[in-house]
Amino acid sequence: MKSKKTISVVPPLALSIIALSAQRAGYCDVTPQQIIVQADQPGPRIDPRLYGIFFEELDFAGDGGLYAELVNNRSFENDPGQAVNWSLLPSGGASGRMSLESAGLLNPTQTRCLRMDVDRLPSGGRLAVANEGYWGIPVTQGTQYSLSFFARCSPGQTGAITVSLQNAAGDTVYATQTIQGMTPQWKRYSVKLTASGTDTDARLALAPTGTGTVWLDVVSLFPPTYQNRPNGLRPDLVQMLKDIGPHFLRFPGGCYVQGNRDIDQAFDWEKSIGPIEDREGLSIMWGYHTTGGMGFHEMLQMAEDIGAEPVYVANCGQTMTASVPDDQVQHWVERALSAIEYANGPTTSKWGARRAANGHPKPFHMRIISVGNEDAVPERQADYNKHYAIFYKAIKAVYPSMEIVQSVNHVTDAPMWNGQPAEYVDHHFYRSPEWFFSHNDKYDSYSRKEPRVFLSELASLSASVGEGNLWGAIGEAAFMTGLERNADAVGMATYAPLLRNVHWRNWNPNMILFDNHRVYGIPSYYLWQMFMHNTGDRYVPATVSDNTVTTSPTLAGKVGVGTWATQAEYDDLRVVGADGKTWTEGFSSASDPGRVVSGGQWSIVDGTYRQTSMEQNTASLFDGASGSQYTYTLRARKTGGDEGFLILFGDSIHGRYLWNIGGWRNSRSSLMQVDGGNMVEVGKTAPGGIESNRWYEIKVVVDGGHILGYLDGILQQDYTVPPTISHPLFVATNRDTKTGELILKVVNTTGDLHASNVVLNGVRTVAPTGTAIVLTSPRPTDENSFEEPRKVIPTTNVITGLNTSFPYTFPPYSVTVLRIKAK
Ligand code: AHR
Repeated sequence: MKSKKTISVVPPLALSIIALSAQRAGYCDVTPQQIIVQADQPGPRIDPRLYGIFFEELDFAGDGGLYAELVNNRSFENDPGQAVNWSLLPSGGASGRMSLESAGLLNPTQTRCLRMDVDRLPSGGRLAVANEGYWGIPVTQGTQYSLSFFARCSPGQTGAITVSLQNAAGDTVYATQTIQGMTPQWKRYSVKLTASGTDTDARLALAPTGTGTVWLDVVSLFPPTYQNRPNGLRPDLVQMLKDIGPHFLRFPGGCYVQGNRDIDQAFDWEKSIGPIEDREGLSIMWGYHTTGGMGFHEMLQMAEDIGAEPVYVANCGQTMTASVPDDQVQHWVERALSAIEYANGPTTSKWGARRAANGHPKPFHMRIISVGNEDAVPERQADYNKHYAIFYKAIKAVYPSMEIVQSVNHVTDAPMWNGQPAEYVDHHFYRSPEWFFSHNDKYDSYSRKEPRVFLSELASLSASVGEGNLWGAIGEAAFMTGLERNADAVGMATYAPLLRNVHWRNWNPNMILFDNHRVYGIPSYYLWQMFMHNTGDRYVPATVSDNTVTTSPTLAGKVGVGTWATQAEYDDLRVVGADGKTWTEGFSSASDPGRVVSGGQWSIVDGTYRQTSMEQNTASLFDGASGSQYTYTLRARKTGGDEGFLILFGDSIHGRYLWNIGGWRNSRSSLMQVDGGNMVEVGKTAPGGIESNRWYEIKVVVDGGHILGYLDGILQQDYTVPPTISHPLFVATNRDTKTGELILKVVNTTGDLHASNVVLNGVRTVAPTGTAIVLTSPRPTDENSFEEPRKVIPTTNVITGLNTSFPYTFPPYSVTVLRIKAK
């Protein structure tokens, strides 16, 4: 946090000066709002583990990130066709080959190894294989690196191999050693290398000293790790996690737990422990192959190291696209049970003994387990309910006090409990900041008879939050004040996802960004840190006067077309505004009409606009619409695939609407609101699908928030978007019994200074001095970066002049935590 200053809140004169200067600066709100805290009317108890973090192997969060391994593709398993991230480097007249081999392997887990044939090695020559690491191997002068590898050689080979850390050009060597004694049998070799220089883009090279053949596998290079743990983690990244102050760590996913299509590529904890050469990597749905090095044990250890309670997400016998056959469900139930035994069981138990053998005789005290992740989507809800019942019964039979988290359909604004017993139901919200403002009351009416909510994935996600800006943090903060107010309904919450290597982007935003030697947190990192470090044990009611703003909807923005697992042609796009201004696109020229495309294969052929891939959720947008009243017409023809047309309109940084005609496998049509990562059905559903090879006439009439949708002249949709109700300020107050403090969190979502009067009812004395922690920046779009990692971070100041009533001005676009000692 930035350094401390002392600020007096008291003199009314100061307040009026701020009000006046605000007025001069053009700020509109100068009437002090009353923030009234009922300190003598305690509300719900706040769960001490309310806030935590969620680690998922996504965007190289583990491999190439937290997991400190520096060799990329150490086991040559990433690609069956080639040794990716490895190169052959001949010099001085040496020649030879490198190839992948699938025979004579190290063990049954390894499916390939690297074969090096050194054909010619004149004196002074050298043939090396080099690994470039995860976008460069970083080495630091004076630091010791642990290299290990398995090798064997052909009879007659020298049995020696020179290993070195060198720069990318190979002309500077930072450390080198020659290892002797290779034989035709696989054996593990290890050596320490101390770097003589610093380089963030170094490489590891291995060069046999004679001709013949050498086979290599599981080539591993580790820098010093967090607490020097073997097979450990990157210290700076672990420190970032610890510094947030998380009370729990949910892991290891996410979709990573489910796997995309193939259950064999879903996380299986039993294959993720023990010696690294026995671990199976996975081809994960986030587009890369993992080593399996950051396994179940490492994640439990990380939870312990950062002081967070482990929350394990177990596969429930489903992938992201299918369910296992009924007779395979028990296998996954057993996996959940064995995971619990590994984490908690006595060392006399089978898995407790394995934990001890892996260096942790004491239990990890895992109290919560999630049965699946996002598996209760409508198309697999019935399977999920069936699987969940089996898991629940089996887990409770052996571990009655284990708390169980149930997945619910997350693709809706109102996720529903399935009625089966559970300690928690798992809600996920990736939405725009605006959605979070208008849904701050989400849990006010949540039935207290239902299981408590575990908001295990929660983040601002929309074009308006960039790569993670202040605006996104403000959205989350506003929503989180509602979580605290409903702490009896919401037990746990965490941001998602946690970490991204900047060289890969499958998901945006992520809380922490890093490359191979630098790291920074987005503003949300600091926001969640502020909330985690400033949670009391009881909610205290607080109200704000004059604090409601109703906004009429407007669907101004781009128009477009899209598809979902369907091939289609579009033509004669036309938008006529209320002022008669007309935009048309007839695709008469083959040139790009200035569209923005997300997904799909779009081309102009014979005067129509064709999408020919079978991808889901393709979109092509045009700057067509003008104002908030317009009529959008077009023609559409389905040429293949599963569904019908996606007609997009009202596209802006806040989201868009789409008319999904022939959606849900061509069974019906609905209007959908796209917000952040989510599409929610609104309005009425019209049954029926779309015929192939027939042109349809489509018309969408938009008037403010009123939408009419006509298919071939027949009115199918008539929907009025409700006005948005939001609040300039969001407030949550807690009491911290231990310290005797009131903790007041105030989120100012506006660009105005908010001059307020804070009234603390029900307290007799207030210490005149307190603390203000403020996260703000001149622009809501401000982001942190490697160059400016501390541009948007909180400042902590001592404030004086506090009393049972005191003035306080909240800066524009800010999140403020006031800590006040009060009796
Ligand atoms: O956090 C990123 C992904 O979002 C998770 O894997 C998944 O659970 C959700 O859809």
